[in-house]
Amino acid sequence: MEPLKGLILSGGAGTRLRPITHTSAKQLVPVANKPVLFYGIEALVEAGVTDIVIVIAPETGDEIREAVGDGSKFGARVTYVVQDAPRGLAHAVLTAEEALGHGPFIMYLGDNLLRDGVRALADRFREGESDALILLTKVPDPWHYGVAELDGERVVRLVEKPKDPPSDMALVGVYLFGPAIFEAARAIKPSWRNELEITDAIQHLIDNGARVESRTVTGWWKDTGQLADMLEANRLVLEDLERSIEGEIESARIEGRVAVAPGARIERSLVRGPAIIGPGAVITDSYIGPYTSIDRDVVVEHSEVQHSILLAGAKVLSLETRMEASLLGRNVTLKRGERRPRTISMIVGDNSEITLP
Ligand code: TTP
Repeated sequence: MEPLKGLILSGGAGTRLRPITHTSAKQLVPVANKPVLFYGIEALVEAGVTDIVIVIAPETGDEIREAVGDGSKFGARVTYVVQDAPRGLAHAVLTAEEALGHGPFIMYLGDNLLRDGVRALADRFREGESDALILLTKVPDPWHYGVAELDGERVVRLVEKPKDPPSDMALVGVYLFGPAIFEAARAIKPSWRNELEITDAIQHLIDNGARVESRTVTGWWKDTGQLADMLEANRLVLEDLERSIEGEIESARIEGRVAVAPGARIERSLVRGPAIIGPGAVITDSYIGPYTSIDRDVVVEHSEVQHSILLAGAKVLSLETRMEASLLGRNVTLKRGERRPRTISMIVGDNSEITLP
């Protein structure tokens, strides 16, 4: 078989992660202080796939190009194709056809995370004779996913968000394809939501006698397309964090698996892991609780934060209540006012959500 190339989908609208996605690509939101997308690139490289095409959207593409560059820092060669609009995963495949050299490839959704990577899956595809190999996981709510009907490991039917699911095995955001997928993607029509669905393209392969196989995920899998999943992914990644204290600690207690980057400062505070504190962050007179990722140059003063992601430059000052299950965008400031009467005063971007105690 020709060497497998990689295709990472990093376009899309990201409507479910607004307002973060008004100003930035969701694939660049950091999980444990590293953009989600970087985990995907690393997983491909680890599986021996170093020739990678990334599909980007016109609005957020430049930011992705800037973050990933030519891929050399990952040991990969990365090229980009712009998808004019989010017209579906199969449309993204067609957009990338030429860049992929019309050959076999592994497709990875840029906002997905897989604990055990994709090496075993890529090896299986390289050894086998199938036209497509998809990854599945058991879910409690199959009607929210693309679902596979199986005969052993062979896929006999795929349905997108079925009202009456044929099984509880949902498609995970990793697919391996031989070149037949390009014809299939050309043959199908847009769905009711006006997207060229990858499930329809795979179904077309099956209907034409192609061999479509499946494997079940080992370890965990997370799609970070919405806030709760993003926080859960952050929690799962932090579960594997190792303790390393490189920043400055003054009169503070650091309990458990905590990573403090060089250039961070923690004073008169308690940090209870797993938690990660990025370079230049300053934590004073505060409590940082489990499952918190604090990115570079964040300031937390006289406040308590847990199970949250704070992006670069965010400030949390003198909160009276503990903040949790939150995602603060870059340079967001959250503070308690000093003036009387005590009122709420804020500048908040479109589609933000704020819950007050
Ligand atoms: P989704 O999360 O299914 O779609 P989306 O990004 O448009 O988000 P939302 O539903 O919240 O509006 O996409 C999965 C991944 O594939 C994600 O990384 C974006 C990418 N994608 C493309 O690159 N092109 C596309 O046409 C679509 C639909 C998604």
